[in-house]
Amino acid sequence: MLKVQDDRIISSHWQEEDDIADTSIRPLRLVDYIGQERVKENISIFIAAARERGESLDHVLLSGPPGLGKTTLASIVAAELGNSIRKTSGPAIERPGDLAAILTNLEAGEILFIDEIHRLNRSVEEIMYPAMEDYAIDIIIGKGPAARTLRLDLPPFTLIGATTRPGLLSSPLRDRFGINCRLDFYSVENLSNIILRAAGILGLAIDEAGARAIGQRSRGTPRVANRLLKRVRDYALIKADGAIDQKVARQALEMLDIDEYGLDNMDRMILEAIIYKFGGGPVGLETLSAAVSEENDTLTDVYEPYLLKLGFIQKTPRGRIATEHAYRHLGCPVQKNTETSLFED
Ligand SMILES: Nc1ncnc2c1ncn2[C@@H]1O[C@H](COP(=O)(O)OP(=O)(O)OP(=O)(O)O)[C@@H](O)[C@H]1O
Ligand SMILES: [Mg+2]
Repeated sequence: MLKVQDDRIISSHWQEEDDIADTSIRPLRLVDYIGQERVKENISIFIAAARERGESLDHVLLSGPPGLGKTTLASIVAAELGNSIRKTSGPAIERPGDLAAILTNLEAGEILFIDEIHRLNRSVEEIMYPAMEDYAIDIIIGKGPAARTLRLDLPPFTLIGATTRPGLLSSPLRDRFGINCRLDFYSVENLSNIILRAAGILGLAIDEAGARAIGQRSRGTPRVANRLLKRVRDYALIKADGAIDQKVARQALEMLDIDEYGLDNMDRMILEAIIYKFGGGPVGLETLSAAVSEENDTLTDVYEPYLLKLGFIQKTPRGRIATEHAYRHLGCPVQKNTETSLFED
């Protein structure tokens, strides 16, 4: 999970207050995990097969933008297998020895969850290869000509890796995952159900149209949906005796400057920068992030996936361009961008 200082309400990044209510909202079993039907179906087949054979589950790679439920799904897989899970992250494992210590302490069948696995450093990654393939690690004892390697056997375990940037994974590492699941943005339907479920757990009065209004503005992301629900709850408490319907939800979200697509000021700033400062693009990532004073990684991990999904921007070999949709959404006169057809990916 990306823990960054980022106070945007619609941020899909983890924020401090998420943890408080999340422990109760977070689904614990596969039946409560809404949406991602293909992923769920695949995983449940693999889990059933592993149980049938009495073997450990093949290693699983979960990829997708922040807040779509990778960590949640990893815990669910462990629960469904009836095994415990140990959680760590790529940047937390600094040296090969750190990983060796984690691996040699695993119990048979245990799940090792590594978040942000694309950020494992190379020397650590190399320990991972034989561990994943042969359940063994090679330890070098001594130095110089007297050095020798000692192979240590590990108990069979399952590695679940999560990443927001699957493209940054080295291919030897990627190839060692038997199960590869890509989480996609959620439909409004699924988000509405996630909101209704969370509202039920939190004891909030909400109708379906109210849940839908929030779902529509949640950027296809459960974490955002849960966070917006909490903001709307506050608004409803003060303005509408606590009951959330479509009107209350819309008013609350309007007050937060979140538009009907779930875009906030930052998203609009990005689109406006492309359109007004760079003539619709193409504009390179570095230039664009400088123009909106945002980190490159945040732009690519957090903002762009959803703007791309909406079809408001396109990536071309020469940079990002704003599409006609974006011009219309912002109410700008549409200029035909001739680069689009020439440079489309
Ligand atoms: N399919 C789902 N059904 C219901 N709630 C969900 C689902 N997926 C995620 N959530 C909710 O969204 C929250 C965020 O999910 P989670 O922390 O698993 O995302 P993530 O993909 O691991 O994000 P990151 O990349 O930032 O680590 C969870 O606490 C959970 O409450
Ligand atoms: Mg996570």
